[in-house]
Amino acid sequence: MSNICVKFDQVKKSYDGKVFVVKALNLAIKQGEFVTMLGPSGSGKTTCLMLLAGFEDITSGEIYVNGKAIRHTTPHKRNIGMVFQNYALFPHMTIAENLAYPLKFRKMSKADKKARVNKYLDLVELQSFANRYPNQLSGGQKQRVALARALVYEPQLVLMDEPLGALDKNLREQMQYEIKKLHKMLGFTVIYVTHDQTEALTMSDRIAVFEQGVIQQISDPKTLYERPDNKFVAEFIGENNHLNGHIESHQDDGTVQVKVTENDSVSALAVNLTASDTKVYLSIRPEKVILNPDKHNIACDNIFTGIIKQIIYIGDHLRIYITFLNESAEFIIKQPNSFKFDDLEEGQAVTLGWLSKDCRALQIS
Ligand SMILES: Nc1ncnc2c1ncn2[C@@H]1O[C@H](COP(=O)(O)OP(=O)(O)OP(=O)(O)O)[C@@H](O)[C@H]1O
Ligand SMILES: [Mg+2]
Repeated sequence: MSNICVKFDQVKKSYDGKVFVVKALNLAIKQGEFVTMLGPSGSGKTTCLMLLAGFEDITSGEIYVNGKAIRHTTPHKRNIGMVFQNYALFPHMTIAENLAYPLKFRKMSKADKKARVNKYLDLVELQSFANRYPNQLSGGQKQRVALARALVYEPQLVLMDEPLGALDKNLREQMQYEIKKLHKMLGFTVIYVTHDQTEALTMSDRIAVFEQGVIQQISDPKTLYERPDNKFVAEFIGENNHLNGHIESHQDDGTVQVKVTENDSVSALAVNLTASDTKVYLSIRPEKVILNPDKHNIACDNIFTGIIKQIIYIGDHLRIYITFLNESAEFIIKQPNSFKFDDLEEGQAVTLGWLSKDCRALQIS
């Protein structure tokens, strides 16, 4: 237990006493872990950070930091660093003064404070900007100051709520790298909130997918993408092809036979299905669908004939839209550009196939 940094235990939050925007949340985060909360707008991500930081009261349940209940600890005594989307720097203070501010209330000698500010200016590579004011910096530089200011008193836990949301794509990627570098070097625990699933997949040890105040799945990035537990996660993370169907039979190897039309059925992996599930949602990632598997000597459990509706050139790959099952289904396939695709054209009949292990039969709910 001792290496758990943060624990949400049956945490509920209602702002109006009627609607719960966080519903009996349980979540344990290890010391040094980088956990991202990902989910649609209004799903309760910021609320969770506010409860943890102490800016909102918990309606019921408890949050523990290092095993201690924090409900009655005032925010500034929780020793939590925070970074938000709008940098919230003090405009009338220089960058060095902004960094020194969180140290003001700490018992440290003047020389130690100065050394500490310099260390963090160095870490975010803004030493030469120490005497400038925030409005003399670019967006990315301001965000680096905000990051350094959150880290300067060396909190063991840092909360970041869409810290890179205001930056353009290149700068965002550069800052993602810098945050990861600091995290690796300094070893603090991070709870990070983002809308951007690529950011979540590339930065996190684990990702918690939120929907309406409930965690739908919490997993490492690879598991989350390749093995979604339910329909919501399959649709929310990455691109997803789907078919709806009825279960015909369960096999001993963990697969199910699913009827998708009067005459067609698909073999798929049963995921958390119960005996009472009859309708299922089949989820297959675009890169797991194989075009003309027979031509490439790839054995597939599921093979259908389809028509190419559209081919879109993306640069490094092609996106191919194919209809099948009498046009009742449409799949997207991604074909690497290195592939020989010259003989593909719109309107052409092709076969498409996939392995049952790559096709997840999920509860419809
Ligand atoms: N201070 C508040 N008073 C009343 N309702 C609030 C308050 N703050 C948030 N809410 C409501 O609680 C729900 C969750 O909001 P929250 O800000 O936690 O969502 P979020 O997941 O961070 O969304 P976003 O991705 O848009 O930032 C929303 O329905 C929101 O309207
Ligand atoms: Mg938010």
